Amino acid sequence: MGQRRTRHTVTVGLGRRRYEIVIGPGSLRQIGRHLHALGCSGRVGIVTNPAVHRLHGASLKQAIVRAGFRCHSISVPDGESVKTLRWASHILDELVRHRFERRSVLVALGGGVIGDLAGFAASMYLRGIPLVQAPTTLVAQVDSSVGGKTGVNHPRGKNLIGAYHQPALVLSDTNMLRTLPEREWLAGLAEVIKYGVIADKMFFAFLEERMEYVRAMREEDVQTVVRRCCELKARIVAGDEREAGLRRILNYGHTIGHALESLGRYRRYRHGEAVAIGMVYEAMLAHHLKICAQNVVARQRALIGRAGLPVRMPPHRFSKFWDALRHDKKVARGTVYCVLPVSIGKVRVAPLEQRAVRQWYAHCHDLLHRAP
Ligand code: NAD
Ligand code: GLY
Repeated sequence: MGQRRTRHTVTVGLGRRRYEIVIGPGSLRQIGRHLHALGCSGRVGIVTNPAVHRLHGASLKQAIVRAGFRCHSISVPDGESVKTLRWASHILDELVRHRFERRSVLVALGGGVIGDLAGFAASMYLRGIPLVQAPTTLVAQVDSSVGGKTGVNHPRGKNLIGAYHQPALVLSDTNMLRTLPEREWLAGLAEVIKYGVIADKMFFAFLEERMEYVRAMREEDVQTVVRRCCELKARIVAGDEREAGLRRILNYGHTIGHALESLGRYRRYRHGEAVAIGMVYEAMLAHHLKICAQNVVARQRALIGRAGLPVRMPPHRFSKFWDALRHDKKVARGTVYCVLPVSIGKVRVAPLEQRAVRQWYAHCHDLLHRAP
């Protein structure tokens, strides 16, 4: 791993809906050529927010116009709160107003929020128009732009309304990541570490060896990281597009992570930070249940700490914690399911018993919160 290359292509093998992820600095500048190759014509809508537009909107628009397309920017506010039916409807209004047709295309320029929202609008307009994901955060480049999950939030829960709509293309321009605030960059590293734990022990070892370079955004390492995560996600999605089985492993760290996000009212943590803590504690739980050895916990905690991410859970009463776990989307017929590590590179999905979790919770709270 880690050899110098500037452009990589990963294919998501979904039969007639297969698509490519083009990774590397400047890949977004080639968008015109790709749109022609996909058979798109006429109008292109760029969905973005003011912060990303200011940094990267003009150069994208220029590349699209230069290729002979009519380009419209559709701006929505920044932040998770834009993932609503109301803002999806705003995008649809703009598409109608500008007379978008079946071969028109929507480009999602932004992080996971923009990708989920624009993707959902693309899935609905004319029963589905082509979507190009142009992810600009690390979370979006290694996770949300790949795999076709799109959607918005409901006041009663995150991502409750949505559709599977695979993109026609993903352009992961690693230059975009250079303008990210540090906190967003580090939050993305949690999802990166997750891939090592769930599916690739060599990749985990690579991260252990090179975390300082990755953290400092060394281009060669950034490309290796984005490419390997996309290869792993592509393989998982191709094997289980609708999350009937295998795809569930992508939820590692997310059962406890989502509970912490909800207990923090979605303000305390960035999603990746909550997942980082979630991975540490789900590994500790796996060790308590004799599913993995202590060093599986220790290696993750050390790497997550070196990535500048939090590893400690704030104290919460067990009843509140359990309640938050039970409200997760991954609960089936009242049973909480959790992805637990068996070893680095291998996980399994297991039901959680309240009694066992309570016992573990008391034990690890003692260890972590009474320590000097
Ligand atoms: P985000 O989209 O809110 O982006 C984070 C912040 O970074 C925003 O303020 C944004 O304006 C800013 N930003 C984006 N690109 C930038 C750039 N290049 N330079 C400077 N600032 C930039 O957050 P996120 O972490 O990318 O995504 C989180 C969302 O993704 C959540 O809504 C989550 O549910 C969703 N998600 C979806 C999937 C999926 O499979 N669909 C997977 C993971 C996460
Ligand atoms: N981010 C989880 C998934 O795509 O399934």
